[in-house]
Amino acid sequence: MPSEKTVLCIGAGYVGGPTMAVIADKCHDYKIIIADINEEKINSWQTDELPIYEPGLLEVVKRARGRNLFFTTDVNSAIKEASIIFVSVNTPTKTFGTGAGKASNLQFWEKTARNIVEQAESDKIVVEKSTLPVRTAEAMHRILSSNQKGLKFEVLSNPEFLAEGTAVKDLQDPDRVLIGGMGTPEGEKAIQKIVDLYASWVPREKIVTTNVWSSELSKLVANAMLAQRISSINSISAFCEKTDANIKEVSKAVGMDSRIGSKFLNASVGFGGSCFKKDILNLVYLCEYYNLPEVAKYWEQVVLMNEFQERRFVQKVLVNMFNSITEKRIALFGFAFKADTGDTRESPAIYISELLAEEKAEIAIYDPKAIENAKFDLAGLDADIDYCSSPYTAVENAHAILIMTEWNEFRDYDYKKLFEKMKKPAFVFDGRNILDHKKLYNIGFNVYPLGMAPLTHV
Ligand code: NAD
Ligand code: UGA
Repeated sequence: MPSEKTVLCIGAGYVGGPTMAVIADKCHDYKIIIADINEEKINSWQTDELPIYEPGLLEVVKRARGRNLFFTTDVNSAIKEASIIFVSVNTPTKTFGTGAGKASNLQFWEKTARNIVEQAESDKIVVEKSTLPVRTAEAMHRILSSNQKGLKFEVLSNPEFLAEGTAVKDLQDPDRVLIGGMGTPEGEKAIQKIVDLYASWVPREKIVTTNVWSSELSKLVANAMLAQRISSINSISAFCEKTDANIKEVSKAVGMDSRIGSKFLNASVGFGGSCFKKDILNLVYLCEYYNLPEVAKYWEQVVLMNEFQERRFVQKVLVNMFNSITEKRIALFGFAFKADTGDTRESPAIYISELLAEEKAEIAIYDPKAIENAKFDLAGLDADIDYCSSPYTAVENAHAILIMTEWNEFRDYDYKKLFEKMKKPAFVFDGRNILDHKKLYNIGFNVYPLGMAPLTHV
């Protein structure tokens, strides 16, 4: 019989890796195994060159690795050995068939569930860590119950709320941990085991238990509402540009209302990341499936507004650079979808590069952590692209700098030196409103922030 305290996580990605590393770090009496079919990824988890960049993660991994944290590609043996199995495989948007472009592609999840059924030799608790459509647990339960071996599987939902770039902090000190179960006595027992695991370091009052459907839905709704705030403030940034109101002042004044709150009200070139768009479209698909077209349209608008903001940004570049950027070198500062990560999934920089390429601009990209991913993302793009190892190379003979990501280091560059290397008139389009606009203007730049009056010499 496997030990009650042997935990397996299937999927060693952005969620599985950090989550399990923190659990291992906090719960010395549990053995944590992370398994993935991707051999290269598993190999790098065992070195100091982790497959993802996340501040503080290497230290956590190093403390636990080899003690009670193990990585393997032998998923089958690990299934046999564990009594609790978290499933943290990817659940991308479906690109084919029914629901293409909106519904979740659950093939990886289903394969994993079938694999668990095939390999298991004892009862297991199976925990949905991936973000899944509401009522997936039901399908999972049916697949798992189809076993002919008389084994019992309890399906729980324990969605993850970590954000990239702050994953370790979010895991060590979460706002809440959500665990949903089936409401049966066996389900309650299973919930208690997962509560006990988290209670090793998370205060009990922050561990919320619900029914499994509420848990699945809460994850989609949390992401939808976070993205909705960004689309709301971005829509107002467009309005500010027409009326001389200042988006930073509006954000501050609005956010000081304690009912609204100040977080997630930074206007930007658009939200990115692997999940916001995917999860909202999944919610939209489910609303359509349950015949709630008005609700579906309401949430879809959050994604449409984001695309509008990205296009609007490029239009602003084009119009203010004399309606032509053809053969002009445009330096992109940042390619990651947010600061402190090398992840570029759904980064606004991808779509913006495509729009710049349509205008036949020359694109020069610098990002402290995401250059390799940028190369991968733009591999098929018919464009003149220069991947640069420093911002100073990127601006060589460039006409404009576009701030794509809010990396802190962008604030501290020697902009006088950058200005000298650029063609004149030189432009800055600050897609994150992070720079000192007055200072740039005094150096000689024409500065276009978001949702604020431009500072121009020409
Ligand atoms: P990811 O792509 O980084 O990692 C998923 C991993 O699963 C990959 O390494 C893949 O090789 C592995 N995998 C796929 N099928 C497998 C199988 N049959 N057996 C073993 N391994 C398999 O994805 P991610 O970003 O970690 O996201 C995972 C889930 O968590 C998604 O549902 C996502 O929506 C959700 N989520 C992500 C974040 C985030 O910040 N990235 C935050 C919260 C929730
Ligand atoms: C988001 C959620 O914050 C997590 O809670 C959730 O677990 C995760 O999605 C997920 O399910 O994948 P993440 O995408 O990693 O986390 O990063 P966020 O900090 O939410 O940023 C998302 C995007 O919104 C970034 O492009 C960021 O730059 C942008 N953003 C954020 C803004 O444009 N303005 C803001 O005020 C805040």
